[in-house]
Amino acid sequence: MHRAQHRLQSDVVWNSRGLVKMRMKRPLLLLMLLHLVHASQALRYSNSFYYQDLSPDGNANGEIYFSGVRLHVESPQALVSAVQGGNVTLPCVYRYEPEVSAPRRTRVKWFWQPSTGETKELHVMAAFGSRHRSYGDFRGRVRLRRSTPGDASLVINPLLSDDTGRYRCEIIDGLEDESITVELQFRGIVFPYFSPMGRYQFNFQEAKDACEQQGACLATFEQLLAAWEEENLDWCNAGWLADGTAQYPVSVPRDACGGTDLAPGVRSYGVRHKTLDHFDAFCFASLIKGEVYFLHQQHNLNFSEAVEKCVQDGAQIAKVGQLYAAWRFAGLDQCDAGWVADGSVRYPITNPRANCGPFEPGVRSFGFPPQHLKYGVYCHKVRW
Ligand SMILES: *[C@@H]1O[C@H](CO)[C@@H](O)[C@H](O)[C@H]1NC(C)=O
Ligand SMILES: *[C@@H]1O[C@H](CO)[C@@H](O)[C@H](O)[C@H]1NC(C)=O
Repeated sequence: MHRAQHRLQSDVVWNSRGLVKMRMKRPLLLLMLLHLVHASQALRYSNSFYYQDLSPDGNANGEIYFSGVRLHVESPQALVSAVQGGNVTLPCVYRYEPEVSAPRRTRVKWFWQPSTGETKELHVMAAFGSRHRSYGDFRGRVRLRRSTPGDASLVINPLLSDDTGRYRCEIIDGLEDESITVELQFRGIVFPYFSPMGRYQFNFQEAKDACEQQGACLATFEQLLAAWEEENLDWCNAGWLADGTAQYPVSVPRDACGGTDLAPGVRSYGVRHKTLDHFDAFCFASLIKGEVYFLHQQHNLNFSEAVEKCVQDGAQIAKVGQLYAAWRFAGLDQCDAGWVADGSVRYPITNPRANCGPFEPGVRSFGFPPQHLKYGVYCHKVRW
């Protein structure tokens, strides 16, 4: 008893062969210790009994952890892809092993590390019992799913354009905490992009800017690889990727494209000099809220008229990334050449047919014609 009292004074954590950690008011603790000394044999079989006994109404001043009970946190999905403007559920579930019969007072916290290179984690939300709180830009857009007792999955609705990154779900049970991370990315489409000035005109920064001006961003290697694997992207000119490498995807090896000796794949020139080397770009566009449409007009338009007609229609001339996203995710199919924002003329085909370009789906391009020539126009309208 003497030793126990000594520990009691020294602090709130008492550890009997790793069986108990506790923090509570002293009289209660003393009582508890007396119990323990007499009942230590029985302890390992009666975890939940002790738990209930000590916090009958669930508001113990302290917290008790029987380390015989372990907290497990899991996510069935470490990578979640979602569509911008839609909603998403980032899975996170916890359970105790062995199961506890009494409800535990568990805290749930979600943190976010943006994919924009931020190293600091930001608060997303915190929940304790029925109380919860969301932070910053997430206020009013996040909740816990709570579909089962251990469900701490985060629902974000709607998803905004810069919500991607690494989310961390932290479950806290008194002194114990466990966390898992879930990566959120947008579903999107990779497209090759080159300058109106011609091929291989961009240094790294110019490539990055060009993608951003077209409603996209530089693709990552993983995105390019997925586009090659899943969409058979085949492009014979090297483009910058977000990691500073220049690469190109080949589905059908051919002489003009690195030769027939090499197997199909993504071919890399490796990391290149960011200011001295020049390539095209591989951009990544995710679905943007709103609609891309071909503006039906009686007469074709030159470029400046095209820009103006979209504005008159309550819209903006569509960016290349928006046209690609609308083609890929909204099935935009229009066999009419139209101006887009960068001064190129394109049209999107999902159902290939006669007189509409090659016999595979794609966004066809006429390149950058002189701006006095007349075509249709693709506009982008945001709908809230
Ligand atoms: C969330 O998105 C799904 C489609 O992914 C949709 O069916 C559902 O209605 C959306 N829920 C809400 C609350 O917006
Ligand atoms: C387009 O046509 C308008 C006249 O309708 C003219 O004022 C304008 O300069 C033309 N723009 C271009 C780029 O040729």
